[in-house]
Amino acid sequence: MRLDIISIFPEYFAPLDVSLIGKARERGTLDVRVHQLRDWTHDVHKTVDDTPYGGGPGMVMKPEVWGEAIDDVIGEGKPRMIVPTPSGRPFTQELAQELAGEPWLLFACGRYEGIDSRVMAEYGSRLQVDEVSIGDYVLAGGEVAVLVMVEAVGRLLPGVLGNVNSVTDDSFAPGSMQNLVEGPVYTKPPVWRGHEVPGVLLSGHHGKVARWRRDEALRRTVRNRPDLAAALDPATLDKHDRKLLEELAFRVGPEDVAN
Ligand code: ADE
Repeated sequence: MRLDIISIFPEYFAPLDVSLIGKARERGTLDVRVHQLRDWTHDVHKTVDDTPYGGGPGMVMKPEVWGEAIDDVIGEGKPRMIVPTPSGRPFTQELAQELAGEPWLLFACGRYEGIDSRVMAEYGSRLQVDEVSIGDYVLAGGEVAVLVMVEAVGRLLPGVLGNVNSVTDDSFAPGSMQNLVEGPVYTKPPVWRGHEVPGVLLSGHHGKVARWRRDEALRRTVRNRPDLAAALDPATLDKHDRKLLEELAFRVGPEDVAN
């Protein structure tokens, strides 16, 4: 997969040299190219922003410099273009899976109040362009959001993770325990500072281990993600699940509508 990233802070992307993503780059699975937006300016100050039409605080990134940068980076090619912005569609595991199937992604990192909207209009008529938010909070710029997306997408590429099962076990992965977050995990030693590893995990009984893991996933989902718990499909719950949810005083299914 080829990844182009255009930013006024290429230094932000140093972490892409290390760990899984760094190894994938060394192996050639990932071809990451980071570009300095200011290289496409023509004035001595290398200006990339200007005041917003209509007034208001902050600065807006100028369309001309973005246009020249993107034209040069893509040539005749047609990457899928991603613009990180808090006003974008949510970045989810599903979108990460979708992006992992693309041969080429172009990330355009905005700073300040964002990029002049005509840039998205212009390339939206030639490429698939998605404005994407990584969460309901405002970062100082898109760089960190791009790091998040590159890591989430990169680890899904074939051969990037050591263990193929790691991906299918993920919270939110399609076909995993759907709509449940993962429960706690433990390794040796069996007792640490007086805290014991739950006995069932040492039992070697695969059925009981699976049941325990599902119970813990349900507990954690109810505690930490009531939004996901509320959206559970009753058809995916067995009698044991229902009993546990009742103990947790959490109701699922149509009877919930009345409350
Ligand atoms: N830029 C600033 N905040 C952001 C967010 N939450 N997601 C994506 N890009 C952003």
